[in-house]
Amino acid sequence: MDTTHPNIVDMFEAGKVLKICAPMVRYSKLPFRTLVRRYDCDVCFSPMIVAADFMRSTKARDSEFTTNHSDRPLIVQFASSDAQTLADAACVVAPFSDGVDLNCGCPQRWAMSEGYGACLINKPDLVRDMVRLVRNQVAKPNYSTSIKIRIHKDLRRTVDLCQKAEAAGASWITVHGRTADERHQPVNYDAIQTIKDSVSVPVVANGDVRHPRDVEAMHRLTGVDGVMAARGLLANPAMFAGYEDTPLQCVWDWELSVEMTLQWTVVALFLYVEIGVLLILCLPFISATRWQKIFKLNIWNSMATFWNKVFLAMIIILIVLFLDAVREVRKYSNMEHGKDAKLNPNMFDHLHMKLFRAQRNLYISGFSLFLWLVMRRVITLINQLANLHDTSTALQMQADGNNQVAKKYMEDNELLKQTLMKGIGEKANTEGMELLKETVERLKGELKTSGDALKKSQSEAEATKGRSDGLAREYDRLLNEHQLLQNAQDSGDKKDN
Ligand SMILES: Cc1cc2nc3c(=O)[nH]c(=O)nc-3n(C[C@H](O)[C@H](O)[C@H](O)COP(=O)(O)O)c2cc1C
Repeated sequence: MDTTHPNIVDMFEAGKVLKICAPMVRYSKLPFRTLVRRYDCDVCFSPMIVAADFMRSTKARDSEFTTNHSDRPLIVQFASSDAQTLADAACVVAPFSDGVDLNCGCPQRWAMSEGYGACLINKPDLVRDMVRLVRNQVAKPNYSTSIKIRIHKDLRRTVDLCQKAEAAGASWITVHGRTADERHQPVNYDAIQTIKDSVSVPVVANGDVRHPRDVEAMHRLTGVDGVMAARGLLANPAMFAGYEDTPLQCVWDWELSVEMTLQWTVVALFLYVEIGVLLILCLPFISATRWQKIFKLNIWNSMATFWNKVFLAMIIILIVLFLDAVREVRKYSNMEHGKDAKLNPNMFDHLHMKLFRAQRNLYISGFSLFLWLVMRRVITLINQLANLHDTSTALQMQADGNNQVAKKYMEDNELLKQTLMKGIGEKANTEGMELLKETVERLKGELKTSGDALKKSQSEAEATKGRSDGLAREYDRLLNEHQLLQNAQDSGDKKDN
């Protein structure tokens, strides 16, 4: 039994927050580990070693793994997709180290394609088998077996993975609080805390620990048993000892603050497009009529059927995003005044950054929604303006036509007047009117005479008609008499015969 070196699990149990140097390919080698150990680093990780390569050649073993007596406590990290290979590699390094760690967090494509790293978080059963085999095969009591993971988007799957690893005998778990797709996004402290609360083994938090004060902050926020730093130690190997470091923090904060998720990048682009369209619609030298011609193009007709649906869908999407942004703003505004912020200056900065982002998202979605409504209204108004313009043009033309007719009547009137004036020379208008009146009187008289003549003709016609009726009756009577005489004559002739 190795009594010269401390047992890692006992170190956790001592109750202090363990400060751990992260595994870093090319960096966390023996010289770097020696350096950080001088500055309060409790445990060091080797860089990730591919277990299969390690087991394949002595050359690989010599170049990948170097250590010395003072290089303890040391965890050797392996990448593996096979339980037996990992267990074999662990057996090789066990005499020179205090534990072996399985890399379940490397997001690099080459590693994922080989079945290493972060793709293992989707294979909890394989992880469980690997942990179990290492536990069973390394014949060294208190030799720790751990995993270093990234989180899932669905946190329940991460909790399930950790519980399976724990059940298989994992001594402790390191959680890098980002998903496999995330690079510089903020660390998910809530997720780390949830994992810590759902397992009994020690949990180490990793991600964005760059200041001495972040160690305590991380512990207070998540309740973890240890913290692990990578880039913080690269920037300042004495960071764990309480030495403040370079302005690197500002660079990171700035990168984080300007970063946008895809969803918000799309909304921002949409906003810019809206502004562009509105600017074009407001160009003073394009008239409303011209816009209407453009709106009446066939291309819009084909889109008109689903245009209303698109409009409504966009409104719903933007409202949802807006409400989400409001929720975020409220969340981080409240947290800003919480007790954690006072305890942890770095967390305070972090929350500020999150609040800034939430506010930016609020403005983007709010303005997008507003301009979307404005754009529809502007298009409607342009159409109405064009219609009004058309109507007023038609009315103008009608008025012009009426003017022409009135002018013509006036000309005719003038002509008539001149005609009336003719014959009496250029006399005054009153004389002309007198003449006109006389003419009218004369014409009236003529009309009356004609009327009388007509009446007379009518009565004569009626008298003539009466006479002709009398003649007709006389003729009928004579005709009857002639008939009687004829009949009498005919009967006399017959008797004579
Ligand atoms: C240069 C470099 C090399 C890394 N190599 C490894 C590695 O070999 N294994 C591993 O699990 N993580 C590796 N990581 C990830 C870190 O261990 C750590 O999880 C990540 O950088 C987040 O921690 P930080 O915010 O303190 O930097 C590496 C990170 C860096 C920057």
